[in-house]
Amino acid sequence: MTIIEFPKDMKWGAATASYQIEGAVNEGGRGVSIWDTFSKTPGNVVNGDNGDVACDSYHRYKEDVQIMKELGIKVYRFSVAWPRIFPNGTGEVNKEGLEYYHNLIDELLANDIEPMCTLYHWDLPQILQDKGGWGNRETIDAFVAYAEVMFKEFSGKIKQWITLNEPWCISFLSNYIGVHAPGNKDLQLATQISHHLLVAHGKTVQKFRDLNVDGEIGIAPNTTWLEPYSNRQQDIDACNREIAWYLEWFMDPVFKGSYPQFMLDWFANKGVHLEIEDGDMEVIHQPIDFIGINYYTGHVARYKENESLLDWELVELNYERTDIGWPIFPEGFYKVLCRIKDNYGDVPIYITENGSCYNNEVENGRVKDVGRISYLEQHLTALHRAISSGVNIKGYLTWSLMDNFEWAEGYTMRFGIVHVNYRTLERTKKDSYYWFKQTIANNWFEN
Ligand code: NOJ
Repeated sequence: MTIIEFPKDMKWGAATASYQIEGAVNEGGRGVSIWDTFSKTPGNVVNGDNGDVACDSYHRYKEDVQIMKELGIKVYRFSVAWPRIFPNGTGEVNKEGLEYYHNLIDELLANDIEPMCTLYHWDLPQILQDKGGWGNRETIDAFVAYAEVMFKEFSGKIKQWITLNEPWCISFLSNYIGVHAPGNKDLQLATQISHHLLVAHGKTVQKFRDLNVDGEIGIAPNTTWLEPYSNRQQDIDACNREIAWYLEWFMDPVFKGSYPQFMLDWFANKGVHLEIEDGDMEVIHQPIDFIGINYYTGHVARYKENESLLDWELVELNYERTDIGWPIFPEGFYKVLCRIKDNYGDVPIYITENGSCYNNEVENGRVKDVGRISYLEQHLTALHRAISSGVNIKGYLTWSLMDNFEWAEGYTMRFGIVHVNYRTLERTKKDSYYWFKQTIANNWFEN
């Protein structure tokens, strides 16, 4: 048994997102988002589930804040539904939308929990999608206008802001692979969208600085790790490409002002032509205050021509997998964090998401999610190793505070440390909740 102890100022937290937990989609003047449309189109979401009710946090936020308080977290990451603030994407601000977030934030602050606000966690106003969505540069301006309203309204209350959650998912998963809203399957479009997202991010950071908002701003890319099966250069390159597609494709422009050349070449070979307007790269290349890292899974892989977009295949090594089928690969968590330090130096890092899917149900009032506890132990051990190697980790927020609408998987996949009964909306704290609570209280755990 070893004691894994964290730095004194480590910030512990939990994360959620608007469409996944709020429900009340027709209340408070909220407009329609692309996820309303997508989830209500047959065939897109398992069981035809949608976020109409979700966890009903729109009405139950006070109960949820009490759950957080008992857990002992210092920071809660949530996202704002853009269509609650601008039901029409642009134009008139919906006061009721602002009021809901004021109420939530005031409740958090009254309970000594710091709000960390994600501006975009995928619920684009449908009306903007009808005009081309992120494929249209006008969406960039609409986003900055929305961010400006948020900065002015909540400055002083919110000290930590995240522009975009998982830009890879917003662009490639949603517009090339097509399993998330809006469901396009177009590599050219998806790649162009990745660029527009970065410009939107950069302009938002500029706006934040212009307004002199008191606080910090960052972005939260999703990361993964592919470990090469052999020392063959082809295997190494294939794994490197996939990691870079998630990480450096988005973060090199932010930190270095340019896309990785080998990825530009790769996309060019696939016939993708990226349109970059004059000044775009300077706009993207704004200093940020922290980077948010989401990490869930990784595996061993090797080169295989035409097997996937980036020419690799997974090597099956009988991984232990979570209930969603993702291999448990804590080594990748450690390695990706070291890679970020190697690439971008000592930028402060928040783990904005890390967690696992286990579908244990309530039995006699208790949820024995041993798999989730083991996942947390393994990943917090990897995180601790990264801290010991000098990676500048500021905090760890688990995904998720509670079970919620897991996008294309609907309600079939549970990531919460709190169980939600989707019929009664009752919350039940899982064993992992109590484990995390103890770890936070101690600031260490035994492994
Ligand atoms: C990342 C996303 O940000 C979040 O919305 C999702 O539920 C989790 N991963 C789990 O898949």
